[in-house]
Amino acid sequence: MDIKETLLIVDDEQNTLEGLKEIMTQEGYHVLTALSAEEGLKLLNNDGIDLVITDLMLPGMDGMEFARTVLRDYIGIQVIIITAFGTVKSAVESMKEGIYNYITKPVHIDELLVIAKKALDESRLRKDYIDLKSKVEAKYKFINIIGASGAMIKVFEKVLKVAKTNSTVILRGESGTGKELIARAIHEKSARADKPFMTIDCTSFPETLLESELFGYEKGAFTGAYKTKIGCFEAAEGGTIFLDEIGNISPDVQVRLLRVLQERIISRLGSTKPQKVDVRVIAATNTNLENAIKKGTFRKDLYYRLNVIPIILPQLKQRRSDISMLIDHFIKKYAAENDKNVKSCTPEVEKLFIYHDWPGNVRELENAIENAVVMCDESVIVVDDLPKYLVTKYEKSKFAGLQEDELDLSAQLELAEKRIIKSTLEKVDYNKTKAAELLSINLRTLHNKARKYNL
Ligand SMILES: Nc1ncnc2c1ncn2[C@@H]1O[C@H](COP(=O)(O)OP(=O)(O)OP(=O)(O)O)[C@@H](O)[C@H]1O
Ligand SMILES: [Mg+2]
Repeated sequence: MDIKETLLIVDDEQNTLEGLKEIMTQEGYHVLTALSAEEGLKLLNNDGIDLVITDLMLPGMDGMEFARTVLRDYIGIQVIIITAFGTVKSAVESMKEGIYNYITKPVHIDELLVIAKKALDESRLRKDYIDLKSKVEAKYKFINIIGASGAMIKVFEKVLKVAKTNSTVILRGESGTGKELIARAIHEKSARADKPFMTIDCTSFPETLLESELFGYEKGAFTGAYKTKIGCFEAAEGGTIFLDEIGNISPDVQVRLLRVLQERIISRLGSTKPQKVDVRVIAATNTNLENAIKKGTFRKDLYYRLNVIPIILPQLKQRRSDISMLIDHFIKKYAAENDKNVKSCTPEVEKLFIYHDWPGNVRELENAIENAVVMCDESVIVVDDLPKYLVTKYEKSKFAGLQEDELDLSAQLELAEKRIIKSTLEKVDYNKTKAAELLSINLRTLHNKARKYNL
């Protein structure tokens, strides 16, 4: 049998409260009631409430303040507001703060049932993902690596397997997919964890410098070599070396690397004495090595030596189900770093993030959230806090592919508004002053809306 979902209904009118309770109980919900926000908060402390439905006008703490408190202190609980017609505007505003939806009085039961069911579906999804997240964390114990999608679980499984070996690993994936993070995780999960982890970004050195950085040099090996210097391979002895952006290294360095990978032997520049090293190599690239081989810029034999165990990191848009988790993770991170009280984002922002294509992958998402946390003045990030380029794209694609009645209430209202403004403008030959008069709104509002809807 399904476990009943629990609703808390708050209204100061005893009759309304009892009426709603009766209907919702018949629908199979477990219903708690309260005559004031204060009483409601006491009930919330007993676990298990999934959805709050509250009247806006309440004695004492009002419905809006109550809703804010619930959203702030009881993560995962959705809130629906019941409002008289005259206060619809503030209710619409409230949706920007994360309130799930609002219903105007008199309450139409069918409408209430549909909205309540949708809200509960969403909160169930959210709870499922919080569960999944803690299961994945408990199983893999990757600190600070977020992901519970099938694609990331495959990556985690592979990381745990290769960590037990000394095999060379190559990490492939677009920029910002987490290659460096995974390289560190492999090291940290390996028996080499208490030995050095050295990162070399191969593109950030000119050719000769890269060689001396990797292999070191003897005193007098070249002009300017005043004393002997050990390279990263020696410095990483017993540990792991992470060769980032390996796709563009010079032919000379390729030959030397091949020798390390084949024989685990290096020699410093200017020395003929070969030296054994015990270093695990992890390489990464976002270039197409196969094409580089065809073009003759990358050695085939080195490719085979590197490609022993490839791990391919998925693009963020191939694992959209992880985006909510990443949002939470980065909000926490940047709120702490910037000493801000930001706790979450509105459902609209979350939706926007989930549908964006993220060409810069996790790094782009991370930057967008850092930016939003800094811009946000409240505890919840709203669309206005986001970088402009994200919003413009979202506005354009928001209605794409959906039937009008499949959209949520705010989107339907926006569509209706757009239609009305468009037809009024057409009627008055795009004279905005006249249109504003006809619609009884001020000219500036009309300008803003016309811009918003591209009219
Ligand atoms: N799964 C993840 N969980 C949490 N943070 C992540 C995840 N993947 C990537 N990041 C973060 O995104 C940023 C980019 O990751 P990283 O530097 O590892 O990517 P990369 O694949 O090496 O990119 P590039 O090719 O541009 O060097 C980092 O700040 C990293 O912490
Ligand atoms: Mg990198």
